[in-house]
Amino acid sequence: MQRVEKEITRLVRECDYDEVTRLFDMLSGGKRLRAKLILKIADSHEKAPLLAAIVELIHGASLLHDDVIDEALTRRGAVSVNASDGSKTAVMLGDILYSKAFTELVEFDKNIAKTISSSVTALSKGEMMDVKMAETFNSDENKYLDMLYLKTATLIEAASASAALLVGKDANKHALYGRNLGLSFQIIDDILDITSDEKTLGKPAMNDFVEGKCTLPYIYLYEELNEEDKKRLVSLHAKEIKEDEIKWIQEKMTQYLCVEKSFKEAQRLSDEARDALSGDVELVSILDTMIKRSY
Ligand code: IPE
Ligand code: IPE
Ligand code: MG
Ligand code: MG
Ligand code: MG
Repeated sequence: MQRVEKEITRLVRECDYDEVTRLFDMLSGGKRLRAKLILKIADSHEKAPLLAAIVELIHGASLLHDDVIDEALTRRGAVSVNASDGSKTAVMLGDILYSKAFTELVEFDKNIAKTISSSVTALSKGEMMDVKMAETFNSDENKYLDMLYLKTATLIEAASASAALLVGKDANKHALYGRNLGLSFQIIDDILDITSDEKTLGKPAMNDFVEGKCTLPYIYLYEELNEEDKKRLVSLHAKEIKEDEIKWIQEKMTQYLCVEKSFKEAQRLSDEARDALSGDVELVSILDTMIKRSY
């Protein structure tokens, strides 16, 4: 992983603007899931750290833009760039990281470059859908999962498939693994928004519903509630809500086991990922760590 960090630092320095370096340093401290995946799959390849660094730059750019979109004030345990330096700066820094990542992709085979870059189109479409869907209360689970696939799973799928391409492993199997890992990963992220706190997460908690995002536990809750309570839940959607209303949502979720049901779905997807590559002990262990994580 040190080699990846070195590559990330080099790429950021090559942007040749001290403001970029300063702001990028505020973004340090992610879990590096996507980089770990690439190293595990393509460790023997000399260009694996560069590919991992590229994907982490892309991921960093997507977080910068995501925090502008979600109006999030914290990220990775620190003040978000949009909060400290404004949304304009966060958007521009994101653009620099995206374009630097694309420039570096020319070092790789066309297949790899296309796999990674087209996943960024998908990710951006997913973010747009997420925002669009937040305008009204969404209770359609399939629509929600389609959006999740785009906004989160495609980059993880692309990371996994492109690492496989780099070393001549089965790209389809690795893509399937990455896709299901990514879906499961985002469902856990959605659960943690409800069950964890800002200090542990390093980013806001209980923010999704305020932002209008009806994540899986909310969809399951809606399915269980009676007509009157359905109306109450919908009336709280996309608003700054008071402590007692948060408590009501959490109590109802506990009553109907909404978090447990969501966790089961994450587990099912993680099992599907495992089935795609069951012989690979290290990739299976990434799944276990991912599903048990607390942030
Ligand atoms: C956050 O991704 C955005 C999602 C896709 C849920 P991570 O949880 O991988 O963020 P870092 O890189 O560890 O901060
Ligand atoms: C995932 O969605 C964001 C990206 C794919 C960039 P979220 O909005 O849930 O991510 P967090 O929770 O802010 O990290
Ligand atoms: Mg967000
Ligand atoms: Mg978001
Ligand atoms: Mg989230």
